[in-house]
Amino acid sequence: MSEPVTLTIDGKEVTVPLGTTIYQAAQQAGIDIPIICYHPHLTANGLCRICSVEVKGWRVQAAACVTPCADGMEVHTRSEDVICGRRTILELLASTVNLEEAPEILALLKEYKADPERFAEGEQRTAPLYDDNPFYIRDYNQCINCWRCVQVCAEDAQYTFALTFNGRGFHTQIGTFMGLPMPDTTCVFCGQCVGVCPTGALKPKRQALLEQGLDPDEIFRQTRRKRKQRQNA
Ligand code: SF4
Ligand code: FES
Repeated sequence: MSEPVTLTIDGKEVTVPLGTTIYQAAQQAGIDIPIICYHPHLTANGLCRICSVEVKGWRVQAAACVTPCADGMEVHTRSEDVICGRRTILELLASTVNLEEAPEILALLKEYKADPERFAEGEQRTAPLYDDNPFYIRDYNQCINCWRCVQVCAEDAQYTFALTFNGRGFHTQIGTFMGLPMPDTTCVFCGQCVGVCPTGALKPKRQALLEQGLDPDEIFRQTRRKRKQRQNA
């Protein structure tokens, strides 16, 4: 059994095993910290920083999903600076990515009174829509680079390694090795990436066709036909 550590979160004392993250300790204490890139079943990478909190004596805020608790820590999850930081992160996200199908992020925008137009002059990240297989489509205009799909495709679940990062800096986006169409990669179409995507960037093909107003029989015909065409190719 790990050695316990005791800290305070928003004035509430909590004791947790060594190695517990601030986010997990806060959950244990019934304190809500927002998350976006974090998923409880995947390796946390601390990418979006929406979970940032203040730790007394620390120069910068800490990402709660990747920062382990320490004895005597004094954590503040809703100070003025923390709220301001979260609001800015959300406003930056809204200025670069299409969040229309990301209900959890839209709810955070509302909760933190973020103005989606604050950085309206900023450059929107744009990418083509990839419709290259009968199972799911990829619209990276809606992708926040949370890395969940890459992680679930790799060591966290599927060990398929079909997805990776392409590009650099502002132009970084998720893609396949050398930009290959999905059927030409190691993808086994397990659907786990679609399941963990928080924004609608990855969407089941049948759902997309339903949203376009096609009836189920036509959808069945279309997706079957494409699969057959591929088999005959
Ligand atoms: S496609 Fe979805 S899961 Fe993958 S990085 Fe983008 S938002 Fe995250
Ligand atoms: S939820 Fe912690 S960094 Fe994204």
